[in-house]
Amino acid sequence: MRVPLFDTATPLAPLRGQLSAAVERVIDSAKYILGPEVSAFEEEFAAYCGAEHAVGVANGTDAITIALRAMGVGAGDEVVVPSFTFYATVEAIPPTGARPVFCDIDPDTYCITPEAVRRALTPRTKAVIAVHLFGNLAPVAEIAALGVPVLEDAAQAAGSLGQDGRPGALGKAATFSFFPSKNLGCFGDGGMITTSEQQVAERARILRFHGSRDKVSYEEIGYNSRLDELQAAILRVQLPHLDGMADGRRRAAGHYEHAGLGALVRLPAPTPGCAPAWHLYVVAHEQPDRVQAALTAAEIGCRPYYRTPVHLQAPMLQWSAGAELPGTELAARTHLAIPMSPVLAREQAERVTEVLAAALS
Ligand SMILES: Cc1ncc(COP(=O)(O)O)c(C=O)c1O
Repeated sequence: MRVPLFDTATPLAPLRGQLSAAVERVIDSAKYILGPEVSAFEEEFAAYCGAEHAVGVANGTDAITIALRAMGVGAGDEVVVPSFTFYATVEAIPPTGARPVFCDIDPDTYCITPEAVRRALTPRTKAVIAVHLFGNLAPVAEIAALGVPVLEDAAQAAGSLGQDGRPGALGKAATFSFFPSKNLGCFGDGGMITTSEQQVAERARILRFHGSRDKVSYEEIGYNSRLDELQAAILRVQLPHLDGMADGRRRAAGHYEHAGLGALVRLPAPTPGCAPAWHLYVVAHEQPDRVQAALTAAEIGCRPYYRTPVHLQAPMLQWSAGAELPGTELAARTHLAIPMSPVLAREQAERVTEVLAAALS
């Protein structure tokens, strides 16, 4: 039985008619940039998250740069950020003029902790980026209680639930990616900023359109970074199904647990009160290459995502001198993503477990 690492096609198959109709609707409207589909999706997505405002942008990387600037981050500031994340989380900081300050994660949850953030704070800290990695929710309220504004990087966490609500409404602002493989994915690139602060939303709207409100006068150097009408229409079809798909991801994690996978590898631990819509299901083992070889031989998809953490990537070395990140190093060395999707079946989870039981015993 082959088990793919992820499956984006099967969950979308029943929606094909609606997706085609949405594309035709946009073609008929002849409006392609910042029209009614984007406005409607912004309203629907903000309501889904429990935030007051949503601002559609071109991708999840721009979303972070623009959100940071809209939160007032600029030259000379510091932004605390985990190193164990996708490169883009950190790459988005220097274009604001600020510098990244790396902080450690808990290798059981893969998320930053208030203690690790506290150690990284200085008088120059202007914001913390709390990455909800793999769909697990970082403890935003506890971090905000340190007195520093939090930007959630929720690129991997659409559909997750926490004790304080959904990602997108937990920090001062939040960012999402709608890259096709994400929990809520479009058919190209797309991103969103959510916030309940009017000023942050307003500045993000200006920044996404060249720093202008009216296309005539320009207040600051901005970006051409907009979600387009086609992607918004496609996302509107999928949003009502996001919770169902997230339940499928939670069910899949349950299949692994019931199959006994936890006796063979370390399973990801949800943070307190979190019901993660696992974007990636990432296990850990002291010999990840052995696990990977066994799964690959059995035609089971798997791969490490962040074997070299961001602070050790060449362009980041200028900011990482002296960083001590033992949790990050452990996670980077031992992690491996195994199959996860809203439609991962019990038999597939049992097959993964059976292959690993044979290989690791
Ligand atoms: C944690 C995280 N942050 C940011 C991004 C950047 O999103 P995008 O690829 O849409 O620019 C991604 C996704 O690729 C991500 O996984």
